[in-house]
Amino acid sequence: MSHSSSWSSKIGFVLAAAGSAIGLGAIWKFPYTAGTNGGAIFVLLFVIFTIIVALPVQLAEFYIGRTGGKNAIDSFKTLRPGSLWPWVGRIGVAACFILLSFYSVVGGWVLNYVVHSFTGEIAPNVDFGALFEKTISNPTSSILYQGLFMLITIWVVKGGISDGIEKANRYLMPALFILFIVLAIRSLTLPGAMEGVSFLLKPDWSKIKSETMLTALGQAFFALSIGVSAMITYASYLGKDQDMFRSGNIIMWMNLLVSLLAGLVIFPAVFALGATPSQGPGLIFVVLPAVFMKIPSGNYLFAVFMMLVVFATLTSAFSMLETVIAATIRQDERKRSRHTWVIGIAIFIVGIPSALSFGVWSDVLIFNKSIFDLWDYIITAIIMPLCALSISIFTGWIQDRQSVLTNAGMGSTVPKTLLYLWLGALRYIAPIAIIVVFINSLQII
Ligand code: PHE
Repeated sequence: MSHSSSWSSKIGFVLAAAGSAIGLGAIWKFPYTAGTNGGAIFVLLFVIFTIIVALPVQLAEFYIGRTGGKNAIDSFKTLRPGSLWPWVGRIGVAACFILLSFYSVVGGWVLNYVVHSFTGEIAPNVDFGALFEKTISNPTSSILYQGLFMLITIWVVKGGISDGIEKANRYLMPALFILFIVLAIRSLTLPGAMEGVSFLLKPDWSKIKSETMLTALGQAFFALSIGVSAMITYASYLGKDQDMFRSGNIIMWMNLLVSLLAGLVIFPAVFALGATPSQGPGLIFVVLPAVFMKIPSGNYLFAVFMMLVVFATLTSAFSMLETVIAATIRQDERKRSRHTWVIGIAIFIVGIPSALSFGVWSDVLIFNKSIFDLWDYIITAIIMPLCALSISIFTGWIQDRQSVLTNAGMGSTVPKTLLYLWLGALRYIAPIAIIVVFINSLQII
């Protein structure tokens, strides 16, 4: 995004929003949450929720941002002056702050793995489980790499996400796809791989629990970057001549594709190599290097792959920081640089306990969760669903129906029936699904 108030090219928005969506959610979180939530049944719920709940809400965020034309809080103020609705924006902005504080911890791990791949730590016969443990439990390197990750994020958002990043997305995202496909082929041809495919694609209905539903819903929101005002913010730079429906559709499919590819790379290998699918956050860090070691020049390819993951992670991080900065500078670009430094550093400091929760502070438990897990739970299982619910009610019921259709439909050539379907999903499907899943899950806490 440039300092000017709109994307520099027509494809800029799609790339940036897709860059925000595709990140650790699809590559890291999706495989391990599928692994701990029974596999295929979770995948199925995730796909359904993405299409019928998350996509409509994402489009509603596009509508709010583009029509309001300002940062998330002020966009609500413009659309509904004097109401309480700007609080949805405020909560979203605060959530982005917290989200980035722990997202950057994992971003730091990925950076650390890039370095690992150059320093000979990724080699055949290495115990990758032990390497992962060592990587995340070391307080100094965790904090250092988290800081480095934040520094890059600050640097880019401070200067405005100019042409460079917009254009880089254009080459790096396809590169990520291609490497994923190569990996999937390698993984699928390992002996015993099919067990992993059925784990991923053959639902076992007995494994369905209300918690699985809430986690799948949370993952659908997380993966599309919704419920935290990030898409409202990005859409505020979007021209009225552009088709937000097509953009939303493309972004959703790209994201589903990357998630499923990640699953197709990980699970066949998990079963073929005798690892456990439910091992949690370490899954990709333990299984992926092992798969690469089975490919000629695997350690170089691993380095390239991890760099692409760093890139995908950074483009998501930019959107989180941009959401906070846009809300504090309130269109006064002169303040951008100073605000980005101050807020970026504050986010880093708030994230330190999360970085330590895999090592020296791993026994600090609140509600039985580590600090990292607690933040993650608050954001993905509580704030995202509740804000998504508010956004669907706001767009579906509070705003004037005709004006929503006119504003959202600007620049779009999709058939009118689709617009009505969208509004229907926002009025009925999304709120009902969110409320049912949420209430069900409250009973188990
Ligand atoms: N969608 C991003 C990912 O999958 C995470 C994200 C969530 C980014 C919310 C911005 C806002 O990695």
